[in-house]
Amino acid sequence: MGLEKINDPFNARRLQTTNLDASGSVESVETKLAMASLSASPSVSVSSSENFNESSGESLSKISLNGPIVDGNDLYRIMRRFSPCITSSQAGRLSAFATEHSHAYLQAAIEEGSEMDTIVHPTNELARSLVFTRTGHIFVLLNRKKAEDTSLGTGSSKVVTTAVDLISGKVVASAGLKFVDDEVQMLEMVRGDDHFVQLIDHAVYPNEEAGFDEEPEKHRLFLEFCEGGDLARAFSNKKITSTENQKIIFEGLIEGVATLHDLGYIHRDLKPANILLRIVDDMLVPVIADLGTACKSNEPSGKTFYSTTEGYTSPELAKAFRKNGRMNPHIAEATTEKLDAWSLGCILYETLGLNKEHPLPWFESEQGFIDGLIQLPENWWPFEAAGEDSPITVVKGLLEVDPENRITVKEARERLANLHWDIPTAISG
Ligand SMILES: Nc1ncnc2c1ncn2[C@@H]1O[C@H](COP(=O)(O)OP(=O)(O)O)[C@@H](O)[C@H]1O
Ligand SMILES: [Mg+2]
Repeated sequence: MGLEKINDPFNARRLQTTNLDASGSVESVETKLAMASLSASPSVSVSSSENFNESSGESLSKISLNGPIVDGNDLYRIMRRFSPCITSSQAGRLSAFATEHSHAYLQAAIEEGSEMDTIVHPTNELARSLVFTRTGHIFVLLNRKKAEDTSLGTGSSKVVTTAVDLISGKVVASAGLKFVDDEVQMLEMVRGDDHFVQLIDHAVYPNEEAGFDEEPEKHRLFLEFCEGGDLARAFSNKKITSTENQKIIFEGLIEGVATLHDLGYIHRDLKPANILLRIVDDMLVPVIADLGTACKSNEPSGKTFYSTTEGYTSPELAKAFRKNGRMNPHIAEATTEKLDAWSLGCILYETLGLNKEHPLPWFESEQGFIDGLIQLPENWWPFEAAGEDSPITVVKGLLEVDPENRITVKEARERLANLHWDIPTAISG
């Protein structure tokens, strides 16, 4: 993380450090504070008071939060949705505990040399832990040890639960990371871009129960909470009904994936479970998530392919699996943007509801989808030719078996403006 990121348009929040002089130690305090401001959400920041101790130059004498900690009653109201067994007195005690200790924990967290955030387990009986971070956030973690707390979802590597941001009063999504991969870096890269799930904070704290061969640190992500859940569930619950919402998802996904490709990365695990949904004006708006498998395009990544279990993998990758006899081919040709183009094509096929009439044939294949994909003829497309201005034609272009003939996601983006959607316009007046 570097200071140049201060200009990040989404989070930039300069701190009041004008009366710090420029001696070495002061500068490093300033750096820390500037870094602290980077990941602070717009409603939260840590501010230093005027009375910085110049003679010691070591610690800021007073740290205050921008905004009050939500009180027990509000916390109770917010938590109840995900933590049905919480009592109002427990919520009250959590809020009181955070208020009482915030000053000390935050001061410790941003003191020079501190690389760690703080996790506190107030009492066994409360069982919900509090995380004080160097960026001035305080989160209550739900669903830690408490079986009755509901979780948001589970993927191949994370269990995603909820947490409450005790200053903004917002529910956020939270996940412990089993291993620190490039996901945090990827999330920082796409910060401020609406097409991607937004990172609120990344906490690092000592792993108190670390065994002999375990990491001494624990990492936990705090992400914006996407209220619409994920696209896999939206498909199975038939949530996307209107053409208007199909269009929003279609365009948002093409633009998001094209943006990632512009940045020189491929996602490699595009599938409905990795697309989250915001709810905006009663519409489900797609957000690309789970960037843990992303890698630079056109470079051998050495990473395994995860999407292979779900049928969103491309025919050329299916063939490479067969040829290599294993599911993780470390081959350069398998890391091109065309892989994402195919997976995206599958998702858009479902978004338009085309699978109702003609399910994707490899999903139906008796020998499993890998063989189904390998045997897929070039002319498998089950619909009559539609016009160039039809969204269906874009999907067909993304689902060309031969990657040479397949359109890129950037090409799909160029065609968005000229597509014709049959959306009845409201009669005004
Ligand atoms: N920010 C979020 N808001 C709401 N639900 C989420 C959020 N992040 C993840 N989920 C849910 O958790 C599931 C797993 O998350 P994901 O990041 O895909 O983890 P994994 O790397 O284990 O696949 C998702 O499919 C989704 O259902
Ligand atoms: Mg996932």
